Amino acid sequence: MPTRALIVGNWKMNGLGPGGLGLDGIALADALGARLSSGPPPRCELVLAPPATLIARVASALKGASIALAGQDCHAEPSGAHTGDVSAEMLKDAGCRYVIVGHSERRRDHGETDVAVRAKAAAAHRAGLIAILCVGESEAERTRGNAEAVVERQLRGSLPATANATNTVLAYEPVWAIGSRRTPSTAEIAAMHALARKAVGARWADAAGARVLYGGSVKAANARQILGIPGVDGALVGGASLDATEFWAIAQSCP
Ligand code: PGA
Repeated sequence: MPTRALIVGNWKMNGLGPGGLGLDGIALADALGARLSSGPPPRCELVLAPPATLIARVASALKGASIALAGQDCHAEPSGAHTGDVSAEMLKDAGCRYVIVGHSERRRDHGETDVAVRAKAAAAHRAGLIAILCVGESEAERTRGNAEAVVERQLRGSLPATANATNTVLAYEPVWAIGSRRTPSTAEIAAMHALARKAVGARWADAAGARVLYGGSVKAANARQILGIPGVDGALVGGASLDATEFWAIAQSCP
């Protein structure tokens, strides 16, 4: 069974500040590093996913602190004529241990299909990164009673043959819960995590160690309840990861 919960802070396209561009990611990294070096260590593994341009600076700000880094996306190819893209190998070189693939904002903004997500997850494995593979239904799909079928289909379509519990973390993120301050019920989260675990059970020799994160409006106020749900091995946190106090409180909520 997984030992420590995994808490991933996905900064999305934030963190450049100051100068009117919002949050200062380096100050945020410094604040988290300071908490880690002064207080009792959290009972979870911490990961930050800054925008690609900030990865190297956040890595140097965190030097010595036990926080891993993640890319927010990667291209399927290792290098080549792909203007604007970043490869898994480049993320690894910049100091990442993880990369998020298949986030619903990538699926929405860039038309990423399960086939594309599968190639990106395979690229992560090729580069020696751990893929954090996101799946989740839309509100309309849940209303129609299709949530489980959609997540099953996404898992089937986007998990590459190379995936196992060591190089892949699953993240259940209902699209309607992201940035909405709404979350599924405890029973709904438990059911979907059980489904994800069952989906990899037949495919992964090491499925007993599979980690399934929950994402979507996790904050300090609900973290303890969500992280206590059976089958929830951690959280993928968006908005609340942009505030050191909130993110730290979430990290302290791990059972
Ligand atoms: P949120 O985002 O925590 O702001 O809802 C979660 C995510 O998109 O991973």
